Amino acid sequence: MAHSPQYAEEMNAFYDRTGSSYSATRRPDPRIANRIMEALGDSASVVNVGAGAGSYEPSDRLVIAVEPSSTMISQRAAGSAPVVQGIAEQLPFEDDAFDATLAILTVHHWTDPGWGLAEMRRVAKKRVVVLTWDQVIWESFWLIREYLPCICDLDRRKALAIGDIVSALGECEVVTVPIPHDCMDGFHGAYWRRPEAYLDPRIRSGISTYASIHQDELDHGLRRLASDIQNGTWEKRHRELCDADEIDLGYRLVIARMDHGG
Ligand SMILES: C[S@@+](CC[C@H](N)C(=O)[O-])C[C@H]1O[C@@H](n2cnc3c(N)ncnc32)[C@H](O)[C@@H]1O
Repeated sequence: MAHSPQYAEEMNAFYDRTGSSYSATRRPDPRIANRIMEALGDSASVVNVGAGAGSYEPSDRLVIAVEPSSTMISQRAAGSAPVVQGIAEQLPFEDDAFDATLAILTVHHWTDPGWGLAEMRRVAKKRVVVLTWDQVIWESFWLIREYLPCICDLDRRKALAIGDIVSALGECEVVTVPIPHDCMDGFHGAYWRRPEAYLDPRIRSGISTYASIHQDELDHGLRRLASDIQNGTWEKRHRELCDADEIDLGYRLVIARMDHGG
């Protein structure tokens, strides 16, 4: 379960480049935040690994963030949790030093996810909580299926099988995280009921996949999307989505409970 050094380099460059536009579009959604807090249970101390600008960092517990990118660190709000510049594969903490470790939409960026997950398990006494996605369900998303199929290949390159994460962590619960239609966090699936958002370069600039996509393929897909939105084809084809409040796009919380408590 390891990514190529070239992939890791590409991603590090993305986060070093993106900085402010990333934190402008990535804001925690309170409904998703609630699910994460529930997953952390009564853990009083938490290490947020691959913390980025600090989305979903609990404010009611002791938190230490770990993040490799200086640009991402510089985007952290004043007063947010203290941050250590480092990587998941080498957490600078003793065994069982914290109640919980948390990794939000980051494991797929790590050079060696298996090693990083073992580190998360090593430093946590009670819980390991990972937010990730199921690639098979993700590929059924209309944006990818109908307009940008090239995203399948790009995302497959970085996706981790949920089963592999579970194998690395030991016994786990896997919880579906449905995405609300008005999701406030601008990650890739957030705009499933607001198709015009994908036409906005500012929104795309906060989504790492678009840093690797071929310009011709992107232009072609977005031109067709713009035209389908304008002539009503998109709405006709996705009427059932327009009435849905939330959908399952494959986002999953993987929770290892070493305390086996509530
Ligand atoms: C999609 S961002 C997620 C940031 C934050 N968790 C959030 O949800 O907003 C992925 C983060 O993983 C970080 N990252 C990349 N490689 C890493 C590694 N080996 N260990 C820890 N974090 C890493 C990136 O620098 C980036 O900040």
